[in-house]
Amino acid sequence: MTYQEAYQLLEEKEQLHVLRFYDNLDSAGQEHLLSQIESIDWRVIESLSHKDDPVNKGNIEPLAAIEVSEIEEKKDSFRQLGLQALLDGKVGLVLLAGGQGTRLGLDKPKGMLNVGITKELYLFEMLINNLKKNTNDAGVPVPFYIMTSDKNNADTIEFFESHNYFGYPKDFISFFVQELVPCTDFQGKLLMESPSSICMSPNGNGGWYTSMYNCGILEDVRKRGLEWINVFSVDNVLQQIADPLFIGATLDSGCVSGAKVVRKAAPNEGVGVLCLENGRPSIVEYYEMTDEMANSREENGELTYNFGVILNYLFRVDVLETMLSADMPLHIATKKIPHIDDNGNLIQPESPNGYKFETLALDMVRMSKDCIPYEVVREKEFAPIKNASGVDSLESAQALMRQNGIKL
Ligand code: UTP
Repeated sequence: MTYQEAYQLLEEKEQLHVLRFYDNLDSAGQEHLLSQIESIDWRVIESLSHKDDPVNKGNIEPLAAIEVSEIEEKKDSFRQLGLQALLDGKVGLVLLAGGQGTRLGLDKPKGMLNVGITKELYLFEMLINNLKKNTNDAGVPVPFYIMTSDKNNADTIEFFESHNYFGYPKDFISFFVQELVPCTDFQGKLLMESPSSICMSPNGNGGWYTSMYNCGILEDVRKRGLEWINVFSVDNVLQQIADPLFIGATLDSGCVSGAKVVRKAAPNEGVGVLCLENGRPSIVEYYEMTDEMANSREENGELTYNFGVILNYLFRVDVLETMLSADMPLHIATKKIPHIDDNGNLIQPESPNGYKFETLALDMVRMSKDCIPYEVVREKEFAPIKNASGVDSLESAQALMRQNGIKL
């Protein structure tokens, strides 16, 4: 893109300030800025015009989960089914590790966090350890795709290489990079990270399948004939990955997707609840629930909307393929975004100053025709590390790890 083309485009979009420092940049800086401008998906910024549109929820009903007691009864047949699917090479894994972990405040990829106390034990290492238990049972490794972002890709790859992939076969691990989208201030103006660079942030955890397509890595999925993908977050240190029981239960249910869920700790706990919306699976965020819904109870005293998702899903690949042509909804989050001011001075805001735009994996559940909620025991499988201290922190996760006999 030439300077003139960029100027014309930005004038039309009322974003000419992006070129404010252009004349003072060296040629590499000018080139970088022009290529960034060219790559902008303007639909992202345009979505701001719908920011305050009311969210019209359809008819919400509870969706029955397959509960721990039922899983216990059927565990042998579930395990058999799941192990066979792993052995037949039908299952692949996607680790969502492109986030910025701003709440934790680590200046490197979250997976590089040392969760050990008397020894080094990294978050990535724990995930591989958890995975190896299941692949050892199945007797075969499972293709493992790791999504990073431009911001943490090099560090992540370097970390895996320098730790010899934590003993997982290297040929079964691949990395791919998710897209970045621009950030704006509250007026919808693009924020600048430096005179030659627009502030960009990863486009959320819902675009992973599209990113796999864009990076060409989907060819590998197709070539290997994978039929299911288990996708999960980087920060739940206790989670089971390639879990034969979960795979078996999902296959047995006949559903096109499955979601690991935990029983809510309290009616207003801040988790998204897997429900039905107009007959289709849907995740209703805690802040979207009325008090009446959140507190509603069944005759047996259990909460009617009782199961929260933990970002560990199984999706059938043929269904994911249909999502490639669909537009994922964009969610707008208010965040603190470091940027430069009109004079080129770096500003580190102390309160939120703009918007980031994200797709969410939970919308992929909404795009599936059905989904089986699969209950896991919270204390055994849910230890997310989100915050620097307090709830869902390294400290709370370490306590749960100890409770599960993990030496720290
Ligand atoms: P979170 O929503 O907790 O976001 O991500 P985060 O970026 O890790 O942390 P905060 O909100 O900035 O503190 C849930 C999962 O989705 C991944 C994260 O890496 C994590 O595994 N994720 C999130 C991505 O892969 N890409 C994204 O753009 C956002």
